[in-house]
Amino acid sequence: MKWPGLIAQYREYLPVTDETPALTLNEGNTPLVHLSNLSKQLGIELHAKIEGANPTGSFKDRGMVMAVAKALEEGSKSIICASTGNTSAAAAAYAAKAGIRAIIVIPKGKVALGKLAQAMMYGAEIVEIEGNFDDALNMVRTISETSPVTLVNSVNPYRLEGQKTAAFEVCDQLGGAPDILAIPVGNAGNISAYWKGFKEYNEIKQTGLPKMFGFEAEGAAAIVQGKPIAEPETVATAIRIGNPASWSLAEAARDESGGTIKSVSDPEILEAFKLLAKTEGVFAEPASCASIAGVLQQVKSGAIPQGSKVVAVLTGNGLKDPQTAISELNIETTVLPNDEQTVLKYIEGVVSQ
Ligand code: F0G
Repeated sequence: MKWPGLIAQYREYLPVTDETPALTLNEGNTPLVHLSNLSKQLGIELHAKIEGANPTGSFKDRGMVMAVAKALEEGSKSIICASTGNTSAAAAAYAAKAGIRAIIVIPKGKVALGKLAQAMMYGAEIVEIEGNFDDALNMVRTISETSPVTLVNSVNPYRLEGQKTAAFEVCDQLGGAPDILAIPVGNAGNISAYWKGFKEYNEIKQTGLPKMFGFEAEGAAAIVQGKPIAEPETVATAIRIGNPASWSLAEAARDESGGTIKSVSDPEILEAFKLLAKTEGVFAEPASCASIAGVLQQVKSGAIPQGSKVVAVLTGNGLKDPQTAISELNIETTVLPNDEQTVLKYIEGVVSQ
């Protein structure tokens, strides 16, 4: 059966009306991959929700299709967002499809190359500021109050409505909720959306509830530290956020589920980034790998018991940020002359090892 996209598929669970346009780039329905090698190593049953398989390469498409469809329904001609990159790519793509304007405000020099290329290609109006994501979000919140432009950051309630559908899919793919849902935390919208989704699906289908394990980057760990971070810093630029907008919703998800929110260091993130690609053939962007880094950390500490069924959300595609992969991991390539004998000899050496 052809997948119809999120709004058509989950209509009965979403705040849509007959007037909501049938906008879609066929987002959703992303794979849940059993990470069999890591599962064996860790003594748990570990699965990854591959959100990088969405049309613009991140989970943001789920929320954005809803936010843009509702903006259209309300007659809006322009949308605006602050972004560390993925939200802006999704906003630009859905605005392009819908035939409206997207204005994006991003921190200069701190958006991964692939994401910037996407916003450019989808034809967004791009504003770079000499500030961070939190500054940009403050600005667009103010602008949207005074100008005829719809704010599509996750403070727009339709964003979380769309994003909650990932929890439905996890339950359907796994035959129920996992014991633990591990997820990166930046602006804290996604952890809040998943928790909402798990609760709603459980009400209707008795799919059970997971413990929510959220992971912030150490240099941007406002929730863990209990205070906003003025100058957040991390290699995982997608979650380089010092004052999460959905802070209290994330804490509620943690507390209601009996879960935890912890931080992972840049070295832990990069280690998980590499390990995931090398042992499972899954290339997810650095911020996504905060979930895997967190699982490794929490298995080690004993907070994730042996035998647990764990789903790690891989929020964005690794191809979004090739620069970090190449520059941070110091992986050497072998450069040889264009000479068949030399190349053959070298490869024979590799194969015989
Ligand atoms: N992973 C990736 C790849 C992201 O792009 C983001 C957020 C997160 C995790 C964190 O999700 O904010 O809901 O807690 N990116 C936003 C953006 C901020 O602008 O693209 P969150």
